[in-house]
Amino acid sequence: MNLVECSRTSETVEPTRICVIGAGYVGLTAAACLSELGHEVRCVEVDAVRLAALSGGEIPIYEPGLDELVTRHASSGRLTFSDDVAGAMDGVGVALLCVGTPPRADGEPDLRQLGRAATAAAAAATTDVALVVKSTVPPGTCEALELFVGGHAREGVRVSVVSNPEFLREGRAVWDFFHPDRVVVGADDPELARAVAGLYPASWPLVACSRRSAELVKYASNTFLAVKISFANEVAALCEALGAETDKVLGGVGLDERIGGAFLNPGPGFGGSCLPKDLSGFIAVAESAGRPAEVARAAQRANDTSLVTLVAKIESALGTLDGRTIAVLGLAFKAGTDDTRFSPAVALVAELVGRGANVRAHDPIARVVEPNVSQVADPYEAAHGADALVVATGWAQYRELDPARLRESMTGHVIVDAVGVLAIEPLREAGFDLYGIGRGLVTSFAPVLWRPLEWMLDAGQPSEVSLP
Ligand SMILES: NC(=O)c1ccc[n+]([C@@H]2O[C@H](COP(=O)([O-])OP(=O)(O)OC[C@H]3O[C@@H](n4cnc5c(N)ncnc54)[C@H](O)[C@@H]3O)[C@@H](O)[C@H]2O)c1
Repeated sequence: MNLVECSRTSETVEPTRICVIGAGYVGLTAAACLSELGHEVRCVEVDAVRLAALSGGEIPIYEPGLDELVTRHASSGRLTFSDDVAGAMDGVGVALLCVGTPPRADGEPDLRQLGRAATAAAAAATTDVALVVKSTVPPGTCEALELFVGGHAREGVRVSVVSNPEFLREGRAVWDFFHPDRVVVGADDPELARAVAGLYPASWPLVACSRRSAELVKYASNTFLAVKISFANEVAALCEALGAETDKVLGGVGLDERIGGAFLNPGPGFGGSCLPKDLSGFIAVAESAGRPAEVARAAQRANDTSLVTLVAKIESALGTLDGRTIAVLGLAFKAGTDDTRFSPAVALVAELVGRGANVRAHDPIARVVEPNVSQVADPYEAAHGADALVVATGWAQYRELDPARLRESMTGHVIVDAVGVLAIEPLREAGFDLYGIGRGLVTSFAPVLWRPLEWMLDAGQPSEVSLP
Protein backbone atom coordinates (compact mmCIF):
# COMPACT_ATOMS: atom_id res chain seq x y z
CA MET A 1 0.00 0.00 0.00
CA ASN A 2 1.45 3.36 -0.98
CA LEU A 3 1.00 6.19 1.41
CA VAL A 4 0.86 9.25 -0.77
CA GLU A 5 2.05 12.69 0.06
CA CYS A 6 -0.03 15.51 -1.21
CA SER A 7 1.14 19.10 -1.36
CA ARG A 8 -1.15 21.89 -2.35
CA THR A 9 0.36 25.26 -2.92
CA SER A 10 -2.43 27.51 -4.07
CA GLU A 11 -5.11 29.00 -1.77
CA THR A 12 -7.71 29.28 -4.51
CA VAL A 13 -9.38 26.19 -5.89
CA GLU A 14 -9.22 25.33 -9.54
CA PRO A 15 -12.87 25.32 -10.72
CA THR A 16 -13.79 21.76 -11.65
CA ARG A 17 -16.88 20.09 -13.06
CA ILE A 18 -18.12 17.65 -10.42
CA CYS A 19 -20.94 15.13 -10.29
CA VAL A 20 -22.43 14.51 -6.83
CA ILE A 21 -24.49 11.34 -6.51
CA GLY A 22 -27.04 11.37 -3.68
CA ALA A 23 -28.59 14.61 -2.40
CA GLY A 24 -29.03 13.77 1.29
CA TYR A 25 -27.42 15.46 4.29
CA VAL A 26 -23.91 14.79 2.97
CA GLY A 27 -24.45 15.06 -0.78
CA LEU A 28 -26.62 18.17 -0.82
CA THR A 29 -24.31 19.95 1.61
CA ALA A 30 -21.22 18.97 -0.40
CA ALA A 31 -22.89 19.97 -3.68
CA ALA A 32 -23.95 23.41 -2.43
CA CYS A 33 -20.68 24.13 -0.64
CA LEU A 34 -18.52 22.98 -3.57
CA SER A 35 -20.55 25.32 -5.80
CA GLU A 36 -19.81 28.08 -3.32
CA LEU A 37 -16.10 27.28 -3.68
CA GLY A 38 -16.45 27.90 -7.42
CA HIS A 39 -16.99 24.43 -8.86
CA GLU A 40 -19.71 23.50 -11.34
CA VAL A 41 -21.77 20.79 -9.64
CA ARG A 42 -24.29 18.40 -11.17
CA CYS A 43 -26.22 16.64 -8.46
CA VAL A 44 -27.98 13.33 -9.18
CA GLU A 45 -30.79 12.08 -6.92
CA VAL A 46 -32.98 9.00 -7.46
CA ASP A 47 -35.61 9.77 -4.82
CA ALA A 48 -38.42 11.38 -6.84
CA VAL A 49 -39.84 13.29 -3.87
CA ARG A 50 -36.45 14.71 -2.90
CA LEU A 51 -35.67 15.61 -6.50
CA ALA A 52 -39.04 17.28 -7.06
CA ALA A 53 -38.49 19.40 -3.95
CA LEU A 54 -35.00 20.42 -5.08
CA SER A 55 -36.14 21.15 -8.62
CA GLY A 56 -38.94 23.29 -7.17
CA GLY A 57 -36.46 25.32 -5.11
CA GLU A 58 -37.21 23.60 -1.80
CA ILE A 59 -34.67 22.05 0.55
CA PRO A 60 -35.91 18.61 1.59
CA ILE A 61 -33.81 18.49 4.79
CA TYR A 62 -33.36 20.93 7.65
CA GLU A 63 -29.82 22.25 7.65
CA PRO A 64 -29.11 25.87 8.66
CA GLY A 65 -27.61 27.98 5.85
CA LEU A 66 -28.08 25.32 3.19
CA ASP A 67 -31.16 26.90 1.58
CA GLU A 68 -29.29 30.13 0.93
CA LEU A 69 -26.40 28.36 -0.81
CA VAL A 70 -28.64 26.08 -2.86
CA THR A 71 -30.83 28.97 -3.99
CA ARG A 72 -27.84 31.13 -4.92
CA HIS A 73 -26.07 28.50 -6.98
CA ALA A 74 -29.17 26.87 -8.48
CA SER A 75 -30.16 30.27 -9.86
CA SER A 76 -26.66 31.04 -11.12
CA GLY A 77 -26.68 27.67 -12.92
CA ARG A 78 -23.56 26.47 -11.14
CA LEU A 79 -25.60 23.83 -9.29
CA THR A 80 -28.09 21.59 -11.09
CA PHE A 81 -30.27 18.67 -10.01
CA SER A 82 -31.50 15.69 -12.01
CA ASP A 83 -32.00 11.93 -11.97
CA ASP A 84 -30.03 11.55 -15.20
CA VAL A 85 -26.69 10.05 -14.26
CA ALA A 86 -25.62 9.71 -17.90
CA GLY A 87 -26.14 13.40 -18.59
CA ALA A 88 -24.53 14.42 -15.32
CA MET A 89 -21.43 12.26 -15.87
CA ASP A 90 -20.80 13.48 -19.40
CA GLY A 91 -17.32 15.02 -19.50
CA VAL A 92 -16.91 14.81 -15.73
CA GLY A 93 -13.62 13.66 -14.16
CA VAL A 94 -14.69 13.62 -10.51
CA ALA A 95 -17.86 12.08 -9.07
CA LEU A 96 -18.62 12.20 -5.36
CA LEU A 97 -20.58 9.21 -4.08
CA CYS A 98 -22.76 10.38 -1.18
CA VAL A 99 -25.36 7.62 -0.98
CA GLY A 100 -26.59 5.84 2.13
CA THR A 101 -24.70 2.95 3.72
CA PRO A 102 -27.28 1.81 6.28
CA PRO A 103 -26.78 -1.16 8.59
CA ARG A 104 -28.25 -4.54 7.67
CA ALA A 105 -30.39 -6.30 10.25
CA ASP A 106 -27.28 -8.15 11.50
CA GLY A 107 -25.39 -4.86 12.00
CA GLU A 108 -23.07 -5.33 9.03
CA PRO A 109 -22.99 -2.50 6.46
CA ASP A 110 -25.36 -2.62 3.50
CA LEU A 111 -23.30 -1.35 0.56
CA ARG A 112 -25.84 -1.99 -2.18
CA GLN A 113 -26.68 1.70 -2.78
CA LEU A 114 -22.98 2.38 -3.15
CA GLY A 115 -22.48 -0.52 -5.57
CA ARG A 116 -25.39 0.64 -7.72
CA ALA A 117 -24.42 4.31 -7.72
CA ALA A 118 -20.78 3.53 -8.56
CA THR A 119 -21.73 1.12 -11.32
CA ALA A 120 -24.07 3.66 -12.91
CA ALA A 121 -21.44 6.41 -12.69
CA ALA A 122 -18.70 4.17 -14.09
CA ALA A 123 -20.88 3.06 -16.99
CA ALA A 124 -21.83 6.66 -17.80
CA ALA A 125 -18.31 8.10 -17.63
CA THR A 126 -17.11 9.50 -20.95
CA THR A 127 -13.62 10.32 -19.72
CA ASP A 128 -11.23 9.00 -17.04
CA VAL A 129 -12.97 9.50 -13.74
CA ALA A 130 -12.24 9.40 -10.02
CA LEU A 131 -15.18 8.04 -8.03
CA VAL A 132 -14.76 9.71 -4.65
CA VAL A 133 -16.43 7.85 -1.81
CA LYS A 134 -17.75 10.34 0.75
CA SER A 135 -20.16 7.80 2.23
CA THR A 136 -18.92 6.07 5.39
CA VAL A 137 -17.70 2.61 4.46
CA PRO A 138 -15.66 -0.22 5.98
CA PRO A 139 -11.94 -0.33 5.23
CA GLY A 140 -11.32 -2.13 1.96
CA THR A 141 -14.51 -0.84 0.31
CA CYS A 142 -12.83 1.57 -2.12
CA GLU A 143 -10.39 -1.06 -3.31
CA ALA A 144 -13.23 -3.58 -3.68
CA LEU A 145 -15.39 -1.00 -5.44
CA GLU A 146 -12.69 -0.33 -8.02
CA LEU A 147 -12.67 -4.04 -8.89
CA PHE A 148 -16.49 -4.17 -8.79
CA VAL A 149 -17.07 -1.33 -11.27
CA GLY A 150 -13.99 -1.85 -13.47
CA GLY A 151 -15.79 -3.99 -16.03
CA HIS A 152 -18.64 -1.48 -16.43
CA ALA A 153 -16.59 1.37 -17.86
CA ARG A 154 -16.49 2.13 -21.59
CA GLU A 155 -13.44 1.02 -23.45
CA GLY A 156 -10.56 3.42 -22.93
CA VAL A 157 -12.13 5.01 -19.83
CA ARG A 158 -10.24 4.48 -16.56
CA VAL A 159 -12.30 4.44 -13.38
CA SER A 160 -10.42 4.95 -10.10
CA VAL A 161 -11.85 5.01 -6.63
CA VAL A 162 -10.68 7.47 -3.97
CA SER A 163 -11.73 7.73 -0.33
CA ASN A 164 -12.68 11.14 1.06
CA PRO A 165 -14.84 10.47 4.13
CA GLU A 166 -17.21 13.13 5.39
CA PHE A 167 -17.11 14.39 8.99
CA LEU A 168 -19.91 16.97 9.03
CA ARG A 169 -22.36 17.11 11.91
CA GLU A 170 -26.06 17.41 11.11
CA GLY A 171 -27.44 20.75 12.23
CA ARG A 172 -24.15 22.50 11.44
CA ALA A 173 -23.19 20.79 8.22
CA VAL A 174 -22.49 23.96 6.22
CA TRP A 175 -20.30 25.39 8.98
CA ASP A 176 -18.45 22.09 9.28
CA PHE A 177 -17.88 21.90 5.52
CA PHE A 178 -16.10 25.25 5.50
CA HIS A 179 -14.30 24.70 8.84
CA PRO A 180 -13.17 21.09 8.77
CA ASP A 181 -10.90 19.73 11.49
CA ARG A 182 -9.33 17.76 8.65
CA VAL A 183 -9.85 16.70 5.06
CA VAL A 184 -8.91 13.05 4.65
CA VAL A 185 -8.00 11.82 1.18
CA GLY A 186 -7.16 8.19 0.63
CA ALA A 187 -5.69 7.28 -2.74
CA ASP A 188 -2.97 5.03 -3.99
CA ASP A 189 -2.09 7.35 -6.84
CA PRO A 190 -0.53 10.71 -5.82
CA GLU A 191 -1.99 12.43 -8.90
CA LEU A 192 -5.49 11.38 -7.92
CA ALA A 193 -4.90 12.38 -4.31
CA ARG A 194 -3.78 15.82 -5.47
CA ALA A 195 -6.79 16.19 -7.76
CA VAL A 196 -9.27 15.34 -4.99
CA ALA A 197 -7.47 17.39 -2.32
CA GLY A 198 -7.46 20.27 -4.81
CA LEU A 199 -11.26 20.44 -4.72
CA TYR A 200 -10.83 22.12 -1.32
CA PRO A 201 -8.82 25.20 -0.30
CA ALA A 202 -5.16 24.51 0.39
CA SER A 203 -5.31 25.94 3.91
CA TRP A 204 -7.63 23.17 5.13
CA PRO A 205 -5.77 20.56 7.19
CA LEU A 206 -5.12 17.54 5.01
CA VAL A 207 -4.44 13.92 5.87
CA ALA A 208 -3.29 12.14 2.73
CA CYS A 209 -3.08 8.40 3.14
CA SER A 210 -4.02 5.04 1.70
CA ARG A 211 -7.64 4.26 0.94
CA ARG A 212 -8.10 1.76 3.75
CA SER A 213 -6.48 4.20 6.20
CA ALA A 214 -8.86 6.97 5.16
CA GLU A 215 -11.83 4.68 5.59
CA LEU A 216 -10.60 3.66 9.02
CA VAL A 217 -10.06 7.27 10.14
CA LYS A 218 -13.81 7.75 9.77
CA TYR A 219 -14.84 4.45 11.38
CA ALA A 220 -12.42 4.86 14.28
CA SER A 221 -13.48 8.49 14.89
CA ASN A 222 -17.15 7.59 15.18
CA THR A 223 -16.35 4.55 17.31
CA PHE A 224 -14.35 6.75 19.69
CA LEU A 225 -17.24 9.23 19.94
CA ALA A 226 -19.63 6.37 20.69
CA VAL A 227 -17.30 5.06 23.39
CA LYS A 228 -17.09 8.56 24.88
CA ILE A 229 -20.87 8.88 25.10
CA SER A 230 -21.28 5.43 26.63
CA PHE A 231 -18.53 6.23 29.13
CA ALA A 232 -20.21 9.54 30.05
CA ASN A 233 -23.46 7.68 30.68
CA GLU A 234 -21.63 5.14 32.84
CA VAL A 235 -20.08 7.94 34.91
CA ALA A 236 -23.48 9.65 35.18
CA ALA A 237 -25.05 6.43 36.49
CA LEU A 238 -22.27 6.16 39.05
CA CYS A 239 -22.75 9.80 40.07
CA GLU A 240 -26.40 9.02 40.62
CA ALA A 241 -25.55 6.02 42.78
CA LEU A 242 -22.92 7.90 44.76
CA GLY A 243 -24.72 11.21 45.09
CA ALA A 244 -21.99 13.02 43.19
CA GLU A 245 -22.69 16.01 40.94
CA THR A 246 -22.65 14.69 37.37
CA ASP A 247 -22.22 18.05 35.66
CA LYS A 248 -19.27 18.90 37.89
CA VAL A 249 -17.71 15.47 37.54
CA LEU A 250 -17.98 15.24 33.75
CA GLY A 251 -17.27 18.96 33.41
CA GLY A 252 -14.11 18.46 35.47
CA VAL A 253 -13.10 15.42 33.45
CA GLY A 254 -13.67 17.23 30.16
CA LEU A 255 -11.46 20.16 31.15
CA ASP A 256 -8.48 17.87 30.85
CA GLU A 257 -7.17 18.77 27.40
CA ARG A 258 -6.22 15.15 26.79
CA ILE A 259 -9.92 14.28 27.12
CA GLY A 260 -11.96 17.32 26.06
CA GLY A 261 -15.51 18.16 27.06
CA ALA A 262 -17.34 17.32 23.81
CA PHE A 263 -19.51 14.20 23.83
CA LEU A 264 -19.34 13.91 27.62
CA ASN A 265 -22.98 14.83 28.14
CA PRO A 266 -25.14 12.09 29.64
CA GLY A 267 -28.32 11.30 27.76
CA PRO A 268 -30.61 8.58 26.47
CA GLY A 269 -27.78 6.97 24.48
CA PHE A 270 -26.38 7.76 21.07
CA GLY A 271 -28.48 7.46 17.95
CA GLY A 272 -28.74 8.96 14.49
CA SER A 273 -27.77 7.52 11.16
CA CYS A 274 -24.04 7.39 11.88
CA LEU A 275 -22.77 6.38 15.34
CA PRO A 276 -24.81 3.17 15.86
CA LYS A 277 -24.16 1.92 12.34
CA ASP A 278 -20.48 2.89 12.22
CA LEU A 279 -19.91 1.31 15.62
CA SER A 280 -21.50 -1.95 14.50
CA GLY A 281 -19.60 -1.74 11.20
CA PHE A 282 -16.34 -1.24 13.09
CA ILE A 283 -17.11 -4.29 15.22
CA ALA A 284 -17.97 -6.38 12.15
CA VAL A 285 -14.76 -5.34 10.37
CA ALA A 286 -12.64 -5.98 13.47
CA GLU A 287 -14.13 -9.42 13.86
CA SER A 288 -13.65 -10.30 10.22
CA ALA A 289 -10.00 -9.24 10.64
CA GLY A 290 -9.64 -11.53 13.66
CA ARG A 291 -9.25 -8.59 16.09
CA PRO A 292 -12.36 -8.53 18.28
CA ALA A 293 -13.22 -4.96 19.26
CA GLU A 294 -13.89 -5.37 22.97
CA VAL A 295 -14.04 -1.64 23.79
CA ALA A 296 -16.42 -0.94 20.92
CA ARG A 297 -18.61 -3.89 21.91
CA ALA A 298 -18.79 -2.66 25.48
CA ALA A 299 -19.87 0.80 24.26
CA GLN A 300 -22.57 -0.82 22.15
CA ARG A 301 -23.85 -2.93 25.07
CA ALA A 302 -23.83 0.09 27.37
CA ASN A 303 -25.81 2.06 24.81
CA ASP A 304 -28.37 -0.70 24.48
CA THR A 305 -29.07 -0.49 28.20
CA SER A 306 -29.53 3.32 28.17
CA LEU A 307 -33.08 3.14 26.87
CA VAL A 308 -34.00 0.29 29.21
CA THR A 309 -32.74 2.30 32.20
CA LEU A 310 -34.60 5.40 31.07
CA VAL A 311 -37.90 3.57 30.62
CA ALA A 312 -37.46 1.90 34.03
CA LYS A 313 -36.90 5.33 35.57
CA ILE A 314 -40.10 6.71 34.05
CA GLU A 315 -42.04 3.62 35.11
CA SER A 316 -40.76 3.76 38.65
CA ALA A 317 -41.64 7.46 38.93
CA LEU A 318 -45.18 6.81 37.69
CA GLY A 319 -45.81 3.42 39.32
CA THR A 320 -46.91 2.03 35.96
CA LEU A 321 -46.80 3.06 32.32
CA ASP A 322 -50.04 1.34 31.39
CA GLY A 323 -52.76 3.89 30.76
CA ARG A 324 -50.57 6.86 31.71
CA THR A 325 -50.43 9.91 29.51
CA ILE A 326 -46.89 10.99 28.79
CA ALA A 327 -45.69 14.09 26.95
CA VAL A 328 -42.45 13.46 25.07
CA LEU A 329 -40.58 16.59 24.03
CA GLY A 330 -38.18 15.98 21.16
CA LEU A 331 -38.10 13.37 18.41
CA ALA A 332 -34.95 14.19 16.45
CA PHE A 333 -31.90 12.13 17.35
CA LYS A 334 -30.27 15.32 18.62
CA ALA A 335 -31.09 19.02 18.76
CA GLY A 336 -30.58 21.06 15.60
CA THR A 337 -31.70 18.50 13.03
CA ASP A 338 -34.90 17.03 11.61
CA ASP A 339 -33.24 13.60 11.34
CA THR A 340 -35.05 10.88 13.30
CA ARG A 341 -33.11 7.87 11.96
CA PHE A 342 -32.23 5.60 14.92
CA SER A 343 -33.34 8.38 17.26
CA PRO A 344 -33.37 7.36 20.94
CA ALA A 345 -36.38 9.69 21.36
CA VAL A 346 -38.36 7.76 18.75
CA ALA A 347 -37.30 4.43 20.28
CA LEU A 348 -38.47 5.76 23.65
CA VAL A 349 -41.85 6.77 22.25
CA ALA A 350 -42.30 3.32 20.65
CA GLU A 351 -41.38 1.60 23.93
CA LEU A 352 -43.74 3.75 26.00
CA VAL A 353 -46.60 3.11 23.58
CA GLY A 354 -45.78 -0.60 23.57
CA ARG A 355 -46.05 -0.60 27.35
CA GLY A 356 -49.56 0.89 27.25
CA ALA A 357 -48.84 4.60 27.67
CA ASN A 358 -50.62 7.32 25.69
CA VAL A 359 -47.94 9.48 24.16
CA ARG A 360 -48.29 13.03 22.96
CA ALA A 361 -45.11 14.20 21.28
CA HIS A 362 -43.62 17.50 20.21
CA ASP A 363 -40.57 18.44 18.17
CA PRO A 364 -39.84 21.88 16.69
CA ILE A 365 -38.82 20.40 13.33
CA ALA A 366 -38.74 16.61 13.16
CA ARG A 367 -41.83 14.63 12.19
CA VAL A 368 -42.41 10.90 12.58
CA VAL A 369 -45.16 8.51 11.70
CA GLU A 370 -45.55 6.30 14.78
CA PRO A 371 -48.72 4.34 15.44
CA ASN A 372 -50.75 5.63 18.40
CA VAL A 373 -48.67 8.77 18.84
CA SER A 374 -50.14 12.19 18.33
CA GLN A 375 -47.76 14.95 17.42
CA VAL A 376 -48.70 18.43 18.50
CA ALA A 377 -47.37 21.82 17.51
CA ASP A 378 -46.71 23.19 20.97
CA PRO A 379 -44.92 21.73 24.04
CA TYR A 380 -47.65 23.00 26.41
CA GLU A 381 -50.26 21.25 24.30
CA ALA A 382 -48.23 18.04 24.67
CA ALA A 383 -48.10 18.58 28.44
CA HIS A 384 -51.84 19.24 28.78
CA GLY A 385 -53.35 16.61 31.12
CA ALA A 386 -50.14 14.53 31.12
CA ASP A 387 -49.06 12.39 34.06
CA ALA A 388 -45.43 12.88 33.15
CA LEU A 389 -43.31 14.90 30.79
CA VAL A 390 -40.09 13.54 29.30
CA VAL A 391 -37.54 15.69 27.50
CA ALA A 392 -35.88 13.37 25.00
CA THR A 393 -34.04 15.77 22.65
CA GLY A 394 -32.02 18.71 23.89
CA TRP A 395 -33.63 21.55 21.96
CA ALA A 396 -32.65 24.87 23.59
CA GLN A 397 -36.26 26.10 23.48
CA TYR A 398 -37.26 23.49 26.08
CA ARG A 399 -34.98 25.30 28.53
CA GLU A 400 -37.39 28.25 28.33
CA LEU A 401 -40.50 26.30 29.36
CA ASP A 402 -42.39 28.04 32.14
CA PRO A 403 -42.60 25.69 35.20
CA ALA A 404 -45.77 27.30 36.55
CA ARG A 405 -47.54 26.98 33.20
CA LEU A 406 -46.45 23.36 32.90
CA ARG A 407 -47.67 22.65 36.43
CA GLU A 408 -51.06 24.13 35.58
CA SER A 409 -51.46 22.09 32.39
CA MET A 410 -50.21 18.75 33.66
CA THR A 411 -52.17 16.32 35.80
CA GLY A 412 -49.08 14.70 37.27
CA HIS A 413 -45.90 16.10 38.75
CA VAL A 414 -43.21 13.93 37.16
CA ILE A 415 -40.64 15.36 34.78
CA VAL A 416 -37.85 13.23 33.37
CA ASP A 417 -35.16 15.27 31.65
CA ALA A 418 -33.15 12.68 29.74
CA VAL A 419 -30.91 15.26 28.07
CA GLY A 420 -30.16 17.63 30.94
CA VAL A 421 -31.54 20.85 29.44
CA LEU A 422 -33.95 21.87 32.20
CA ALA A 423 -33.01 23.90 35.27
CA ILE A 424 -33.80 21.76 38.31
CA GLU A 425 -34.62 24.30 41.02
CA PRO A 426 -37.44 26.28 39.33
CA LEU A 427 -39.20 23.01 38.50
CA ARG A 428 -38.83 21.76 42.07
CA GLU A 429 -40.20 25.04 43.36
CA ALA A 430 -43.19 24.64 41.03
CA GLY A 431 -43.92 21.28 42.67
CA PHE A 432 -42.39 18.84 40.19
CA ASP A 433 -40.36 15.73 40.93
CA LEU A 434 -37.53 16.05 38.46
CA TYR A 435 -35.55 13.00 37.37
CA GLY A 436 -32.64 12.98 34.98
CA ILE A 437 -29.62 10.96 33.99
CA GLY A 438 -27.15 11.51 36.79
CA ARG A 439 -29.11 14.49 38.10
CA GLY A 440 -32.43 15.33 39.71
CA LEU A 441 -34.00 12.97 42.24
CA VAL A 442 -31.63 10.18 43.31
CA THR A 443 -31.83 7.34 45.76
CA SER A 444 -29.87 7.12 49.02
CA PHE A 445 -26.12 7.16 48.61
CA ALA A 446 -24.95 6.69 52.23
CA PRO A 447 -23.52 3.19 51.57
CA VAL A 448 -20.77 4.81 49.54
CA LEU A 449 -19.04 5.63 52.83
CA TRP A 450 -18.84 2.04 54.05
CA ARG A 451 -16.45 0.65 51.51
CA PRO A 452 -13.78 3.35 51.87
CA LEU A 453 -14.06 2.98 55.68
CA GLU A 454 -13.62 -0.76 55.31
CA TRP A 455 -10.64 -0.22 53.05
CA MET A 456 -9.08 1.94 55.76
CA LEU A 457 -9.33 -0.68 58.47
CA ASP A 458 -5.73 -1.78 58.09
CA ALA A 459 -4.75 1.68 59.28
CA GLY A 460 -6.44 0.91 62.64
CA GLN A 461 -10.05 1.26 63.79
CA PRO A 462 -11.54 4.69 63.35
CA SER A 463 -12.00 6.18 66.82
CA GLU A 464 -15.00 8.46 66.64
CA VAL A 465 -16.88 8.17 63.36
CA SER A 466 -20.52 9.08 63.19
CA LEU A 467 -22.14 7.85 60.09
CA PRO A 468 -25.19 9.46 58.55
N1 LIG B 1 -25.70 12.36 7.89
C1 LIG B 1 -24.52 12.61 8.45
O1 LIG B 1 -24.40 13.35 9.44
C2 LIG B 1 -23.28 12.00 7.89
C3 LIG B 1 -22.04 12.51 8.27
C4 LIG B 1 -20.89 11.93 7.74
C5 LIG B 1 -21.00 10.83 6.88
N2 LIG B 1 -22.24 10.34 6.57
C6 LIG B 1 -22.30 9.21 5.65
O2 LIG B 1 -22.61 9.71 4.36
C7 LIG B 1 -23.48 8.80 3.67
C8 LIG B 1 -24.77 9.51 3.26
O3 LIG B 1 -25.43 9.91 4.44
P1 LIG B 1 -26.71 10.86 4.38
O4 LIG B 1 -27.11 11.13 5.80
O5 LIG B 1 -26.46 12.01 3.47
O6 LIG B 1 -27.75 9.87 3.71
P2 LIG B 1 -29.18 10.23 3.08
O7 LIG B 1 -29.97 8.99 3.15
O8 LIG B 1 -29.70 11.49 3.68
O9 LIG B 1 -28.83 10.56 1.56
C9 LIG B 1 -28.48 9.61 0.62
C10 LIG B 1 -29.14 10.00 -0.69
O10 LIG B 1 -28.63 9.21 -1.75
C11 LIG B 1 -29.69 8.96 -2.66
N3 LIG B 1 -29.32 7.83 -3.52
C12 LIG B 1 -29.21 6.52 -3.19
N4 LIG B 1 -28.80 5.81 -4.27
C13 LIG B 1 -28.63 6.69 -5.28
C14 LIG B 1 -28.24 6.56 -6.64
N5 LIG B 1 -27.91 5.40 -7.16
N6 LIG B 1 -28.19 7.68 -7.40
C15 LIG B 1 -28.51 8.88 -6.89
N7 LIG B 1 -28.92 9.06 -5.59
C16 LIG B 1 -28.97 7.98 -4.82
C17 LIG B 1 -30.86 8.69 -1.74
O11 LIG B 1 -32.10 8.79 -2.41
C18 LIG B 1 -30.66 9.77 -0.68
O12 LIG B 1 -31.31 10.97 -1.01
C19 LIG B 1 -23.66 7.61 4.61
O13 LIG B 1 -22.68 6.67 4.33
C20 LIG B 1 -23.40 8.23 5.97
O14 LIG B 1 -22.94 7.28 6.90
C21 LIG B 1 -23.37 10.90 7.04
